[in-house]
Amino acid sequence: MLSLYSCSTCGKMILVVQDGDGTLVCHDHPMTRVEEKSSDAGKEKHLPVIEKTPAGIRVKVGSVPHPMEKEHYIKWIEVIGDTFLYTATLKPGEKPEKEFFLGNLSGQVKKVRINCNVHGIWANKS
Ligand SMILES: [Fe+2]
Repeated sequence: MLSLYSCSTCGKMILVVQDGDGTLVCHDHPMTRVEEKSSDAGKEKHLPVIEKTPAGIRVKVGSVPHPMEKEHYIKWIEVIGDTFLYTATLKPGEKPEKEFFLGNLSGQVKKVRINCNVHGIWANKS
């Protein structure tokens, strides 16, 4: 559930909210399931860092702030729980972080996932 698929031709990305038997197709070929990376090895850091705030959580991308330049930036951050999915989009020039006002759902976050336009999908599971 909540799997991501992408098209190798055009880069379109699909979020599946309910799995089924069918094959997702784009540009006449099956879309590829996107694998989440979960360990930072290189110079740039992508794993989301979660901090509690009075109203929810703040997600920062990278233990060292990720670049937010036009050619290389964080496109979105997802916060996932059993009963919710929140997505925030980011733009070049912004800070690589967002606050999510989750209230009493703050303790129910299961996964935080981010998308770097160059390095792909990264997830930090709690
Ligand atoms: Fe990156």
